Amino acid sequence: MCGIFAYQGKRTDVANLILTGLKSLEYRGYDSWGILIKKEDKSFFLKRQVGKIKDKKLPPIIAKEGFGHTRWATHGGVLEKNTHPHFDSQKKIFAVHNGIIENFNELRQELTKKGHIFNSETDTEVLPHLAEELSKKTNNRLKIIKEIIKKIKGLNAIILYFLNESEFYAFKNSSPIVLGKNNDGVFLASDASALASYTNKVYFLNDEEIIMIKEKNIYLFDKYGKPKKINFINLNYKVEDTLLGQHKHFMIKEINEQPKIISTILETQQQNIKKATKLIRNSYGSYLIGCGSAYYACLVGTYFFSKIAKRHINAAVASEFSYLVDFLKETSLVIPLSQSGETIDVISSVKKAKEKKAKVLALTNVLGSTLYRMSDEKLLLLAGPEKCVLATKSFTAKLTFLYLLAHILNGTFNKGKKNLKKAVKEVEKIINERKKIKKLASFLKEKKHIFILGRGVSYPVALESTLKIKESSYIHAEGFPAGELKHGVIALIEKETPVIVYNPQDETYEDTLSSAYEVSARGAYVIGISSKNSPVYNQFFQIENCSDATTIPNVVFAQLLGYYLTLARGFDPDKPRNLAKSVTVK
Ligand code: AGP
Repeated sequence: MCGIFAYQGKRTDVANLILTGLKSLEYRGYDSWGILIKKEDKSFFLKRQVGKIKDKKLPPIIAKEGFGHTRWATHGGVLEKNTHPHFDSQKKIFAVHNGIIENFNELRQELTKKGHIFNSETDTEVLPHLAEELSKKTNNRLKIIKEIIKKIKGLNAIILYFLNESEFYAFKNSSPIVLGKNNDGVFLASDASALASYTNKVYFLNDEEIIMIKEKNIYLFDKYGKPKKINFINLNYKVEDTLLGQHKHFMIKEINEQPKIISTILETQQQNIKKATKLIRNSYGSYLIGCGSAYYACLVGTYFFSKIAKRHINAAVASEFSYLVDFLKETSLVIPLSQSGETIDVISSVKKAKEKKAKVLALTNVLGSTLYRMSDEKLLLLAGPEKCVLATKSFTAKLTFLYLLAHILNGTFNKGKKNLKKAVKEVEKIINERKKIKKLASFLKEKKHIFILGRGVSYPVALESTLKIKESSYIHAEGFPAGELKHGVIALIEKETPVIVYNPQDETYEDTLSSAYEVSARGAYVIGISSKNSPVYNQFFQIENCSDATTIPNVVFAQLLGYYLTLARGFDPDKPRNLAKSVTVK
């Protein structure tokens, strides 16, 4: 949640450089944004604004250093006074922050007793005041930072800036900070994709490390203040991957990228997946965990493993898994799925699993992310930077890896490959025929409720489909195992209630068709997604059968429906209200 960006170097257009950096981090939070730069005359320019950055431009102030923040509000309303950067009473120390300082109230009361006046409702504002209070005792700023780290509680990523001394200090506990460097200068950002336009030479800061930037030099310290060597790594981000290009929205750009991504995984990942299956074979009890879309991918994985690999694998919501780890042991395998690799509920569950000596095989999309660095084995999803808050290409990439894992475990890789190649064709067909889905969206746009049914592996597909509709069109959508209908939910069906039915021609076909007839009998408007039409469908979308890989084109149908429903209702598909791309606070 929240994006932070800082720069110190030779460039003088720092105001707009930081604004561009914040824009590329805006998917982490877009309630308000703020920027501070130090002008050549040693004074500062501070701008804080509620709302999205959009096409804002800043005055061309000559400056060579500064930082900024884009906010996802946790403490204090969406108001200018709660927008970062926050500052001390002398406006000499400034702070930007991502995370939650859990003991901010106690610290605030202590500081208030010492005469500090707070202007905001945020937890963050205690940081510059704490630094100000500590600098009354020492002007050793590294010592002040170490003291602050000891005093604050919670999962945080923080940059403190001492204006007079032109010094930046960055430190973190779990939430991400990336350091970047090029010939012009030094960068700090919440994730590496925000640095792609400037450098691919990065260092992922670890917990209990402190970075100091002064006069374009970088100093890394451990928690005792002892200097450490910085081991930069080179990331192969292509800038255009992080930009919209000719697309209107990142959502449709990323939906269109799926055929190529799935084909690349198919052509390049057999050996990596094979290696990962060894961990699964040697484990005694394996658990897929994730949040939101990632959890629904885990559920799809349980069907793939059962049907294809004849192997039981559990799935759990990562935020609940922390309460379920007592049975884990060194022979257990935890498989966390996370696009960002920073979702705090996944990170903390994996930490607990590691305390139980369980092995960890991560499926993540971000090289160098916290999850990537803390896992024993990792499979990179190769979906490229995903900027739209709604997971699309990362979801189908997860399904592709899980599908191939199951087939390799079963020794039927080529069969899996054949089905996935067919699925890629179906995805291309749906994308090319998206006008039909756009028409369905304008038909459904005024509906209050949409229900989605599926049996077997189509049940978690129904759940993910509801999320793609709910997240950005804000229409209430609910997914059910079709077999559950008569146990209660059919009571929600009335005349013209839209019901989407996933009905691939597999072992669930006949039973699901009966369910379609049952809701139709109650007046539902039935939209059938299948390879075979039926008179019960009021509307029919043909998706050819690709065995269990049919889950992938089925999900792409829902991604496009979610996209066009959002546009039809006049909302932003990339930055839905109240959401952020990577959930780094509990
Ligand atoms: C999906 O569209 C949402 N953005 C959300 O549910 C997401 O899947 C969830 O927050 C998990 O994110 P992760 O894959 O980065 O861990």
